[in-house]
Amino acid sequence: MSDHTRFILNESDLPKSWYNINADSPVPPTPVLHPGTMEPVTPDFLSVLFPMELILQEISTERYIDIPEEVREIYKLYRPTPLLRARRLEKALDTPAHIYYKNESVSPAGSHKPNTAIPQAFYNKQAGTKALTTETGAGQWGSALSLACSFFGLDLEVYMVKVSYNQKPYRRILMETYGAQVYASPTDRTNFGRSVLADNPDSTGSLGIAISEAVEAAATSNGAKKYGIGSVLNHVLLHQTVIGEESLKQMDMANEYPDVVISCVGGGSNFSGIAYPFLRENLKNGKRTRLLAVEPTAAPSLTKGVYTFDYGDTARMAPIVKMHTLGHDFVPPAIHAGGLRYHGMAPSLCALYDAGYIEAVAVQQKATFEAAIQFAKAEGIIPAPESAHAIRAAIDEALDAKAKGEKRVILFNLSGHGHFDLAAYESYLSGKLEDYEYPEEAVRQAMTKLPEVNISA
Ligand SMILES: Cc1ncc(COP(=O)(O)O)c(C=O)c1O
Repeated sequence: MSDHTRFILNESDLPKSWYNINADSPVPPTPVLHPGTMEPVTPDFLSVLFPMELILQEISTERYIDIPEEVREIYKLYRPTPLLRARRLEKALDTPAHIYYKNESVSPAGSHKPNTAIPQAFYNKQAGTKALTTETGAGQWGSALSLACSFFGLDLEVYMVKVSYNQKPYRRILMETYGAQVYASPTDRTNFGRSVLADNPDSTGSLGIAISEAVEAAATSNGAKKYGIGSVLNHVLLHQTVIGEESLKQMDMANEYPDVVISCVGGGSNFSGIAYPFLRENLKNGKRTRLLAVEPTAAPSLTKGVYTFDYGDTARMAPIVKMHTLGHDFVPPAIHAGGLRYHGMAPSLCALYDAGYIEAVAVQQKATFEAAIQFAKAEGIIPAPESAHAIRAAIDEALDAKAKGEKRVILFNLSGHGHFDLAAYESYLSGKLEDYEYPEEAVRQAMTKLPEVNISA
């Protein structure tokens, strides 16, 4: 065991390839279906939204996919990211556990999201795309894609969930500073946005609605615009595996190996990014690390959702995938972890969870902010509310190890900082933040609106 606190890799240690779980997953991938025909999608359908290189990555079963040099050069602006031992937090908890965290908040946009935004912009530029559309919830993904588009000279339209647009003006300004156009969704720019506003002029939006608007804007642009996605799809998860590959090397420098790897889940990309390389070590090299996904009780896709085929968006324009879902018309309560409010989850992660390779837990938001503040006071970094879910679970693991008198090695992913989320901290500190448990009954009702699919996967 090392007596260091920070484990820093050299530029030359930056991974040269991404790791594709589809090569090793013991559970076969389920088909992605066309939302109209309910048949497996063709590359033609997907090519309306994505450049061919990303479609090929989506369906690839190659174990490793080379990271283009142009992408690695840009990664070098902030990667390899540091891995730290949270010694002061361990002390505050008086735990025998060793707590490590991978700090993805050091990227220029403040989260792990540029790890995929940069390659997505790169492959689009390479394919001749001039403009992208996307949605954003909390604003982290929109910021990351704005940054990446500015690097590659692409225009970007961002449909930002209205409640976040109003709560987080500085995220909007950040995106605009990088050159993006940001709209509060639902907007009157798309058919779907107009239909939502006709039904409910005061709609505060949802990620499902914003995805529908961004997809419609790209799909009806006659090829002028493509769509960038921040999570859920396989190519996004793939790009995030740089987190886990670096962490493996850094744990090696620390002379320890994690008993448990923890991360928050919205659509599943930062979790997969850190966890899949450790899962590979479990599957191929006899390691036994537990992989724990943490979600809010307000949007509990894994722990309360049903594992079935559902639409990826509210307007039923995006592909249908098999996932743990709360129903595609899920309009989440206005909890503060905006990036965790999606109704579904990455299909590969759901399949692995269903088969018992991954664990999941849901945590309440007050306990989450309590953990965030404990971490901030001990380690100095104010975490994004999303990342604070992982911190809550890491602290719970450390306290459990203490109760059992065990030395447990815990690694969690700090997916982002919370500098633009201070209004949420203010709500917590002034006692306004409420706990919320998404009702089983709402999930049951939503299941009556699932697509009728004739595939027994
Ligand atoms: C800081 C942060 N962490 C986590 C997430 C959740 O996304 P994912 O599950 O794709 O990592 C988000 C999404 O916006 C985020 O902003």
